[in-house]
Amino acid sequence: MKRINESGFGFAEALQAAQQSLDKNKNVLRDYLEARGPGSEEPILFDSESLAILAYKGAIEAVRERYWTTTFLSSGFWCSLNESVLGANLRLLADRERTGASVRRLFLLPVPAGEELQRLQDERMLLRKQQDVEGLARFDQKFANLAENVHELIRHGCDIRIAHGAEQLHPALPAELAFEPGDTEIAIYDNWRFDLFQGGRSGTIESVCGYTPATARFEQNRDRVVEYFERLWAKSQPIGEFLERIRKLIEYSSTRIEYDTSWLVRYDHALPREDEALKVAEFSSVQVELTRLARWGKVRRFLDVGTCTARYPLALREAVRADGDIMAIDNDMDCVRFSQEKVQRESGNDARFKIKCHDFRSTELPSEQKFDLITCMMGTLSHFEHAPWEGHRPPEDALQRAIENFARLLDEEGVLFFTVWTEKACQELRLLGIYTDEDRQRLARTSITRQELQRRLEAAGLRVSTPLLLQDRMDLYRCEWPRP
Ligand SMILES: C[S@@+](CC[C@H](N)C(=O)[O-])C[C@H]1O[C@@H](n2cnc3c(N)ncnc32)[C@H](O)[C@@H]1O
Repeated sequence: MKRINESGFGFAEALQAAQQSLDKNKNVLRDYLEARGPGSEEPILFDSESLAILAYKGAIEAVRERYWTTTFLSSGFWCSLNESVLGANLRLLADRERTGASVRRLFLLPVPAGEELQRLQDERMLLRKQQDVEGLARFDQKFANLAENVHELIRHGCDIRIAHGAEQLHPALPAELAFEPGDTEIAIYDNWRFDLFQGGRSGTIESVCGYTPATARFEQNRDRVVEYFERLWAKSQPIGEFLERIRKLIEYSSTRIEYDTSWLVRYDHALPREDEALKVAEFSSVQVELTRLARWGKVRRFLDVGTCTARYPLALREAVRADGDIMAIDNDMDCVRFSQEKVQRESGNDARFKIKCHDFRSTELPSEQKFDLITCMMGTLSHFEHAPWEGHRPPEDALQRAIENFARLLDEEGVLFFTVWTEKACQELRLLGIYTDEDRQRLARTSITRQELQRRLEAAGLRVSTPLLLQDRMDLYRCEWPRP
């Protein structure tokens, strides 16, 4: 070391530390072999990624009965095509046919799957709005790689699932293992070793601590780690549907209409005259209907779907009781933020308002309670894709899911209003003037006949009144539950 120091290049201290660390690991193993008992309070530690991978590959090659592991979606290995890690896993799986080993991989999500998917959709929509071409390509490639790796492992017999809520189980783990939420990943090899990897948060392996019978309290600690894994596994779901939903959200967010802040400001304050008149006509028709039905001032719970700039929640707040609730949803985070700020500005501390990000095409509902007023205005329903109706039942597409969600959320005495662009407006592309040509064409493609829409609403059990034609461009529908 003295000679190295003389070189004057400044490596001596680093080399000395690496040497000490290696000696320490060697001594732990040597003491164990000599005494055949745990001689060390410390695990075997490697704080370089390449050594951690070698240590990991060495262990899985020796597995005969069980290889159970947790990982994060952000893991650099499963989102890139890392041949050496994938290869080691595939060799283990090939051996599995002979050994019958149980091979399980659990992806840990920070929140329930639905929320994680919404977060991924927001992230991708933001990249698209920022026209971040490279960011989009990286996002898509990451999930294409993940799907490819996962399918390859599943094809070879690996059981792969997703779960969330790992942090709630951390208090039951021994404190000396120092589990870090969102960062520590585990691997359990048969009964003779388990590893704790650090670095999941950044998608890398920063270090690995390997626990073996050479470490004090190995059996107790291993049993607690196994129990932690089993409890997570018991509440997990197969990964297949989750990956399919990621594929669909990438497809959806590649084509959906983007609402950036300047569009929202123009929608509120600078529409062409004809469009402004349509907005006014649509709103006053709803207002008149609510008054005619004696609902004005009596609404208990109001939901606005595709709220955009919170126009309806604000304009209809007088229709809702002082102790009522006003919920507005949109699946575009810019619309949600814009609406939240506007509501705060215009209604101060009115506690009735709740504005949240939610995709109405999903089967999950935005609320567990029902509503006695639901609105979905200015052609928002035309944003939900639909397939041609061929059989006896309506197709299971986004439009039908949205219609069924209306039915699931509508109170027995409730009333639902929505507007759709007419077939004629779609043919003549007379949609909002502030949409781009491409968006107008996209919306026009979702045009639906009155008859089909009526059949779809009836298939969901709703009673539909004759639609009111606005400016020859929009149909205003009112739906309720059939009276007994
Ligand atoms: C034409 S704007 C609606 C205008 C608003 N309802 C009004 O009348 O002033 C359409 C809105 O629907 C939202 N949207 C589109 N698809 C959605 C979905 N799947 N779930 C929730 N909101 C959606 C868009 O982000 C956009 O804010």
